[in-house]
Amino acid sequence: MYRNPYLSWYELALKSLNYSVLGKARTKDFKKVVLTGMGGSGIICDAIYTVLFSNSEVPVSVVKGFQPPKWVDSETLVCGISYSGNTVETISVVLKSMELGAEVCAVASGGKLLEIARSKNLPHVIVDGGLLPRVAFPQLLIATIKILDVYGIKVCDNLGEIIDVLKERSIADYISKELADFLKESLPVIISNNEMYPLALRFKDELNENAKMIAKVEVIPEWAHNDIVGWELPINLEVLRALIIWSDDPIIEFASNYLREVGVKTYIFKLLGYGVLSKVLYGSLVAGLTTTYLAELRGIKADETKSIDEYKKFLSSIKGRFKVFY
Ligand code: F6R
Repeated sequence: MYRNPYLSWYELALKSLNYSVLGKARTKDFKKVVLTGMGGSGIICDAIYTVLFSNSEVPVSVVKGFQPPKWVDSETLVCGISYSGNTVETISVVLKSMELGAEVCAVASGGKLLEIARSKNLPHVIVDGGLLPRVAFPQLLIATIKILDVYGIKVCDNLGEIIDVLKERSIADYISKELADFLKESLPVIISNNEMYPLALRFKDELNENAKMIAKVEVIPEWAHNDIVGWELPINLEVLRALIIWSDDPIIEFASNYLREVGVKTYIFKLLGYGVLSKVLYGSLVAGLTTTYLAELRGIKADETKSIDEYKKFLSSIKGRFKVFY
């Protein structure tokens, strides 16, 4: 019988706790960090960035594109994450960073990125293949935390503890069915604070890829400096639904009341888990389940992402003609 792959997240995460870091770090002496990846792999960069934003002594940046920042040099650690290992943007940043003398490490299940890491004996983790990148979220997260640990970057003290929340699948499943019903036929507006931004973005991405829906993300307090005004005049609210990623924050409460008063239907999504990463994992489990249920309700295949394939084909057709590529 078909089993929703998100329901296996706890077992997948548990298995990933055994991943080991291969290769050898050339130096552990760096002053800046770049995390790079796209889509389902790139979201790992956002989740880790959010934790390091409050914990790390060294500055951390996320790159989602072809170019490393100008300041990448021999005192920079660059971590490339690509589930397939063949994402052109990620490989491009990794290769260019190597040219600039950066210390590079990688997380992949195969492909060119793994080839580069192996041939240069760079620190790398090989994650289990055969999944959609977005379904491999727990593996990619754990692998990246492990590789950063080699460099003394502590993202989390106890990996076993953060994945525990994934056992709550029956609660997650119940909420997901409720949420799928709430969001069907809508244009979801996802609202979070800065700490839960990776989850808000992940929810949007899952709505896009699994449910083939358009969604937007708004983050407080920035939301209150622009988007808030857009709701002042009467608009057709029929299609809009606000998904509020709840946190104990008076501004989230303000935003939620504001939208309700304007007439938008809102859903308060309360997260299980302790700390950023377990909340993001739990929220992502709900996002995965919700969007696969939405795909079912919409009569479409959750696992197909034809337009991404088309974009990737387009990229390889123009590769070699532009300097931005590797
Ligand atoms: C998610 C998905 C995409 C990819 C992205 C990058 O399931 O298919 O968002 O994650 O195109 O590819 P990878 O992750 O292989 O580097």
